[in-house]
Amino acid sequence: MKAVVLNGVTEAKDIQLSEVPVPYVKPGWVLVRVKAFGLNHSEQILRHGEINANYIAKPIIPGIECVGEIEDPSDSGFIKGQKVIAMMGGMGRSFNGSYAEFALLPRHNVFRIDTDLDWTSLAAVPETYFTAWGSLFDCLQLNKEDTLLIRGATCALGYAAIQIANAVGCHVVATTHRQAKLSLLEDADEVVLDNGGLPGTLHGITKALDLVGAGVIKETLRTVEKGAIVCDTGVLGGASSLNGFDPIKDIPNGVYLTGFFSNYPNQETVDSMFEFFRKKELVPLYGKAFAFSDIQSALLAQDSGSVNGKIVVTV
Ligand SMILES: NC(=O)c1ccc[n+]([C@@H]2O[C@H](COP(=O)([O-])OP(=O)(O)OC[C@H]3O[C@@H](n4cnc5c(N)ncnc54)[C@H](OP(=O)(O)O)[C@@H]3O)[C@@H](O)[C@H]2O)c1
Repeated sequence: MKAVVLNGVTEAKDIQLSEVPVPYVKPGWVLVRVKAFGLNHSEQILRHGEINANYIAKPIIPGIECVGEIEDPSDSGFIKGQKVIAMMGGMGRSFNGSYAEFALLPRHNVFRIDTDLDWTSLAAVPETYFTAWGSLFDCLQLNKEDTLLIRGATCALGYAAIQIANAVGCHVVATTHRQAKLSLLEDADEVVLDNGGLPGTLHGITKALDLVGAGVIKETLRTVEKGAIVCDTGVLGGASSLNGFDPIKDIPNGVYLTGFFSNYPNQETVDSMFEFFRKKELVPLYGKAFAFSDIQSALLAQDSGSVNGKIVVTV
């Protein structure tokens, strides 16, 4: 099969497809025929440096998510041809991921879906929509009375969160740190240029989804109303942890801080998401689709930031 295989830090311009054997199925694992996959910020982090870490299996086929069909169900109870999505749990880091024609994946990271959405639209779903869903509902308990702030909204996750929040019917305030990108957020009710200094400038925020992350989270906590919930989900600002964080002083009285980690997807949530798409007639959003044979262009586009929204690759 054709696959991207990484041995170390690799520039997008050096990415190419290799021929590798189709993996043998084993108990507890299923073989998925990959139809499409989305690109993620975390794969960029892997390719640019994290690959040197000891916990990354090397050589590695990257890719933390995919959509496709069961090729060999092994002992899973799936039937051959079942439409599935798969994500996380070490995919593309501890074991080979989805930048390939076939992926051998743990049964518990593969979820059946029943949908008429085309493969390209579906490829935008697993990691991005699961994370948006978990952040908005499991963590932020979003409802239509809320005013939701999304910081760092000009990313695949931000656009998905705006779409879901609009379908819920709440008031959405979305930020970008680039003047030139304000117009990309027109689906939000309010758009704000965010170069820091939000506290005192926004009012009535009852829920906040922070995609910029640890570097600005203290400021987000000071931007929301008493009783609000703040969810730390992204690391777009480059920092994922915060030394010297003082919960007593840094979390304002009566404000709640939570975080979302997409590592534990489950069938129940996947079913709820697809039911929501059906009921609200949502078509998952993507920025641009590339053919697998053109994976280098897809990764060059990712590194240059030239695509607004999820980059998907059809296999
Ligand atoms: N917690 C979890 O389990 C989880 C799961 C999935 C994703 N995430 C995180 O969520 C974030 C979004 O992921 P994604 O895959 O949707 O990203 P993505 O689509 O690859 O978006 C990357 C884009 O975000 C933009 N961005 C917006 N605000 C930024 C800021 N303040 N600093 C730097 N860049 C900024 C950048 O464009 P501009 O600078 O031009 O605006 C960049 O091109 C990432 O940090 C990712 O690691 C977390």
